[in-house]
Amino acid sequence: MNRISGFLRVSVSLVFMVLAVGCEAEKKEVLVDAPPLAYVGSESCAETDCHADIYADFVKSGHPYKVQKLNGVAPTFPAGTSAGVPNPPAGTSWTDFEYIIGGYGWKARFLKSDGFVYGTGGSGGGQGLNQYNLATSAFADYNKTSETKYDYNCFVCHTTGADPDSAWKPNMFGNFQFTGIQCEECHDKGSQHAFNPDGIPMLIDRTNALCGKCHQRGGYTATVPVKSGFVEHHEQYNELKASPHSNLSCVTCHDPHKGLLYFRDNSNGNMKIECTSSGCHTGKIQNGPHASVDCAKCHMAYTGKSAVAANVHKGDISSHIFKINDNAFPKDSMFTIGSMTGSGSIRLVSGKSTGVTLDWACYSCHKDGNNVGGTGSTKSLSELSAYDVHP
Ligand code: HEC
Ligand code: HEC
Ligand code: HEC
Ligand code: HEC
Ligand code: HEC
Ligand code: HEC
Repeated sequence: MNRISGFLRVSVSLVFMVLAVGCEAEKKEVLVDAPPLAYVGSESCAETDCHADIYADFVKSGHPYKVQKLNGVAPTFPAGTSAGVPNPPAGTSWTDFEYIIGGYGWKARFLKSDGFVYGTGGSGGGQGLNQYNLATSAFADYNKTSETKYDYNCFVCHTTGADPDSAWKPNMFGNFQFTGIQCEECHDKGSQHAFNPDGIPMLIDRTNALCGKCHQRGGYTATVPVKSGFVEHHEQYNELKASPHSNLSCVTCHDPHKGLLYFRDNSNGNMKIECTSSGCHTGKIQNGPHASVDCAKCHMAYTGKSAVAANVHKGDISSHIFKINDNAFPKDSMFTIGSMTGSGSIRLVSGKSTGVTLDWACYSCHKDGNNVGGTGSTKSLSELSAYDVHP
């Protein structure tokens, strides 16, 4: 018999014939209770060959690497993805740090054993040069003048089983079960399912609220915060809500187990559907030199910024507003602040964005009158506006 508490015995109230842990394992005819509901870790899902295929994809995606414990050496990332973080901030060594935050997608920050984000500081100011940016392979200042704790307020979106009611460090708000976004962050605790895979299903939540728990800023609304001329990062939920695709689910398009950032060509099948799949934009074509340009190049321009912007027309996070406003309006007309400085949000009319402006959509290839943009021909906003991409 499994030893479980009287309380759990009642609340679980399950008695099964059988079952050694794991689906391929030899089944034994023994009368046992289901174990208490608990986290078991992603490896358990792969261990018994039950979900080895999903696990193999998952370990190449960004989710599990969101926070990593360091063992005195540089963090590692799967082959074919991030080039990694070669050095810790100047004047420090890897042994000074207990954890690294990020480093898979855009940037990395560092944690000493006190749980504060290294280099952030209060009135005296921190060391600065404490954020490594992958795009430039250089360090930049992060919260140099505002001391930042790595607590529940951050790691509720970066870990599995985050819990506000206990402390992971003395005087630090909240605790967590595992670093990174593991299987059980999306599917809930797995001990009973691992014990009886056929009899006890896992939670499968296909709603946008699941992804939106983390890929959102300021709540489950269509308000999309912007700062210093760019949409802020982790706002995909808000953007989708402000878009004509608000009726779609994140997992209509995304396979949540497959990485995207290093597989934008879809070589690993992370996109479950194409824009031109039947029932969607079947037969949509583009004019002239744009005939073979990927739809996302224009319709999901890089309006967001996490770490580094290439120029004023190109951040490092692609938009989920999809709609393009083809009037000759400048980019800041898209924001409530009507400027490239300060904080505000995307302008909404009846709860929807009027669309991403042409400078964002077209200047990744073309360039503006000041030569800012891509390597293609110079085009003014009115020239862009006069052109019909779709015949
Ligand atoms: C970021 C959230 C997330 C993580 C992390 C995650 N899943 Fe899923 N999983 C989902 C969602 C959402 C679905 C439903 C997908 C759909 O219907 O398109 C799903 C579906 C599944 C299914 C049903 C079959 C299938 O392929 O659709 C299995 C089995 C599964 N996940 C196992 C796992 C395992 C094992 C891991 C860890 C190695 C894992 N998941 C990690 C969100 C996640
Ligand atoms: C509401 C959820 C949420 C909160 C709160 C949050 N983050 Fe994140 N963070 C994300 C998501 C989602 C991403 C990746 C997607 C994106 O940036 O659009 C991310 C990305 C990052 C990255 C870059 C990861 C990489 O691989 O490049 C770092 C570093 C980071 N966050 C640090 C922090 C710190 C420090 C805090 C607290 C001060 C914090 N985050 C709070 C959701 C959150
Ligand atoms: C518990 C928080 C959390 C949940 C829930 C979550 N994400 Fe994420 N997601 C993150 C963070 C944090 C990152 C940044 C990871 C990194 O790159 O270091 C991220 C990165 C990503 C990326 C880019 C990284 C890559 O692997 O290419 C995609 C795409 C993504 N998430 C899609 C989804 C979808 C779709 C869902 C819902 C099924 C979802 N996420 C649910 C926190 C979350
Ligand atoms: C070179 C940039 C570019 C590319 C590539 C592009 N589009 Fe567009 N698309 C635009 C612009 C600009 C508009 C707004 C003007 C208009 O309606 O024609 C637009 C409008 C649309 C619209 C809304 C207008 C309508 O016809 O109802 C849809 C839907 C659309 N595109 C789908 C697609 C699909 C699907 C692809 C890929 C097969 C794609 N686009 C590729 C620039 C582009
Ligand atoms: C209509 C299909 C579609 C829907 C719905 C959708 N996405 Fe995406 N998403 C994409 C495509 C395509 C890309 C890659 C764009 C590119 O290649 O630049 C992407 C990129 C991303 C990225 C990487 C950001 C970056 O830097 O490029 C994240 C994170 C993400 N999506 C999360 C989400 C979440 C969370 C939801 C739901 C709130 C969602 N997506 C809904 C199609 C979709
Ligand atoms: C992926 C790169 C790419 C993007 C994004 C792009 N273009 Fe182009 N465009 C080209 C190339 C390549 C040419 C041909 C060479 C040149 O003019 O630079 C071209 C040519 C043009 C021309 C000249 C007329 C013609 O048929 O030769 C116009 C007008 C134009 N693009 C408008 C747009 C508009 C409007 C957008 C945004 C909605 C846009 N382009 C986005 C690559 C791009």
